[in-house]
Amino acid sequence: MRLEGRVAIVTGAAGAGIGQGVSWALAREGANVVVSDAHPKRPFQVAEDIKSETGREALGIVCDVTKNEEITNMVKETLDKFGRIDILVNNAGGNKLQQVVDMDEEVWDFVINVNLKSTFLCCKAVLPTMIKQKYGRIVNLSSSIFLVGSKDGEAHYTAAKAGIVGFTRALCREVGEHNITVNAIAPGLIMNEFLLRIYPKEYFDDFEKNVPLGRSGKPSDIAGAVLFLVTDEGSYMTGQTLSVSGGWTTY
Ligand SMILES: NC(=O)c1ccc[n+]([C@@H]2O[C@H](COP(=O)([O-])OP(=O)(O)OC[C@H]3O[C@@H](n4cnc5c(N)ncnc54)[C@H](O)[C@@H]3O)[C@@H](O)[C@H]2O)c1
Repeated sequence: MRLEGRVAIVTGAAGAGIGQGVSWALAREGANVVVSDAHPKRPFQVAEDIKSETGREALGIVCDVTKNEEITNMVKETLDKFGRIDILVNNAGGNKLQQVVDMDEEVWDFVINVNLKSTFLCCKAVLPTMIKQKYGRIVNLSSSIFLVGSKDGEAHYTAAKAGIVGFTRALCREVGEHNITVNAIAPGLIMNEFLLRIYPKEYFDDFEKNVPLGRSGKPSDIAGAVLFLVTDEGSYMTGQTLSVSGGWTTY
């Protein structure tokens, strides 16, 4: 097990998508995991399932990553239980499709806050601990959309995910001397129930035609990349953004 004794926080970890997939993968590699999510009940259930199946410690915490006081509380609860924070996966994110010409300012602010500002706030909250430990692994969820753009009402989301790439590059330079790595992952289309609800089926068929590997992704595809970045295999890598998209971004 490559993460024995490590403590990981994953935000947005109680949905059916990447966050939960990453939480399971970290626990199966031996990490104790904080399952953090804004949902009022699901984090506790997911933590319980992880605990009983993997034998690792798992702690459910309700935390809306757009609220700094809830992030402060998440870090405090984690330190009270585990005494350290080795890994932070900034996974929580959100979107509300609107064309720029019709976009409400509140929608712009919501999408920037839940994707980009939350990443800054969570990093800021764990850094004092990671600096003290002289160890930290941070992985930020961007999106491959930052490379290709979109005409589907995602300009704010694209801007936020591109912002995460820039933030990742700058932060890696600030904290490298403390043995903290900061990387991003830019997923392609990773199927989940929410996406199936907001897009028509033709959207996925068209999308898959442009993917060299001919399929959309699964949360486990992203979990594999996260494991690389947070274990010793990825320890000389920082400030980078991995496109995990079945090759979508090559067209
Ligand atoms: N699914 C994709 O195709 C895809 C593609 C590119 C990038 N991403 C990014 O990957 C990450 C995970 O996406 P996913 O689609 O797999 O979903 P997911 O299931 O991993 O995450 C959704 C979870 O986030 C939680 N959440 C929403 N707002 C929150 C908030 N303010 N605070 C805390 N938790 C909150 C939800 O309750 C839900 O449980 C996101 O950052 C997303 O933008 C996803």
